[in-house]
Amino acid sequence: MRGLRLQAVEARLGEIAPGAARFADQWPTGQDVEILPLVRQALAEIGVHYLFSEDASTLLPFAARLFLAREALVRPSRWVWPCWVPTPARRFRTRQQVAFINALRPIVRRRRSSGRLGDDMLGQMLGPSSRHGPLPEEAVLDTLPGITVATFETPSRAAGWILLHLARHPHAADRVAAEAALLPADPAVTTSTHLDSLQYTQALVREVLRLYPPSWLLTRRVRRRTQLADYTIDAGSTVLVCPYTAHRDAREHSDPDRFQPERWLDDSGSPAKPGAFLSFGTGPHGCEGAALAMAMLTLLTAQTARCYRLSEPSAPESGYQVTTLEGLTPVGLRLRATSRS
Ligand code: HEM
Repeated sequence: MRGLRLQAVEARLGEIAPGAARFADQWPTGQDVEILPLVRQALAEIGVHYLFSEDASTLLPFAARLFLAREALVRPSRWVWPCWVPTPARRFRTRQQVAFINALRPIVRRRRSSGRLGDDMLGQMLGPSSRHGPLPEEAVLDTLPGITVATFETPSRAAGWILLHLARHPHAADRVAAEAALLPADPAVTTSTHLDSLQYTQALVREVLRLYPPSWLLTRRVRRRTQLADYTIDAGSTVLVCPYTAHRDAREHSDPDRFQPERWLDDSGSPAKPGAFLSFGTGPHGCEGAALAMAMLTLLTAQTARCYRLSEPSAPESGYQVTTLEGLTPVGLRLRATSRS
């Protein structure tokens, strides 16, 4: 997708960075706060703005409800209903999907009829491609609800793990803070040169994604009988690929259970061999939003470490739970921020 490529993301860092700075500014200090809802809200604001710029405020509430509907859908229930049964969760999800599309349709029509398509992600989708011409309206409307939720759903799971690691590894957090001190005072002027200067922060984000890949299990349906190393896999089989265990394989990553961002800075640790890092998947269906996700997470991590030292609550009852339902998530994670200044 053109609007999600690295070049497109780099061109709009000045719009992404202010949201990351706002997240840090608004963190309620001196108290334990449940972090996932806060970070999800911040990333939703950044992500929805990235897609729809001045139309983001109209669509943000619909995007939030669409996310809630997806959560309700994967919540464990006592019964496993066949996929055609319209359970309350499925009906709720359909209503939210329709509501989102109904809010988006007039925006698409207004932009097309005025000829001002916009230079955001929606504008890029509405512009004709050299190969296929303009996308039909229904294709745009069907694609965007999923992309919209993707901008903040998995990234917020990742952000939870990253912030937890800042709390558990204060030296690493100090190093991020030192890099972040060189970011411009006005985040709106952030460029790719600034992002490139956050080498250690990017390595830390990557290292957390290696240890706690939110998409910890990928599946593929085999279309034809396939030979894979010593295994023959019949057509129709489902193959499971587990980035979580692959990332903890000592043949690919030395001392694999150890949190060591430096391994991404030099050649000694985790090589950039294809398949060694699977947090964004790989191949033709690898993550289309990897560049946007890395930019959002790197800037959010840098801005947070620049302002605060993070810590976990000492009381045992305030611990979080790891869920694997939709993605690897530290549910109920609470952290406390103390100002560095
Ligand atoms: C930390 C954040 C993210 C992680 C860990 C992540 C992970 C992944 C993974 C593992 C896949 C491949 C799934 C598979 O092979 O079955 C995937 C696909 C995808 N991701 Fe992400 N993602 C993230 C953020 C985003 C963002 C911000 C967007 C953009 C809006 C996005 C859009 C997509 C899309 C459209 C696909 C489907 C690609 C295809 O099927 O061709 N993702 N993502």
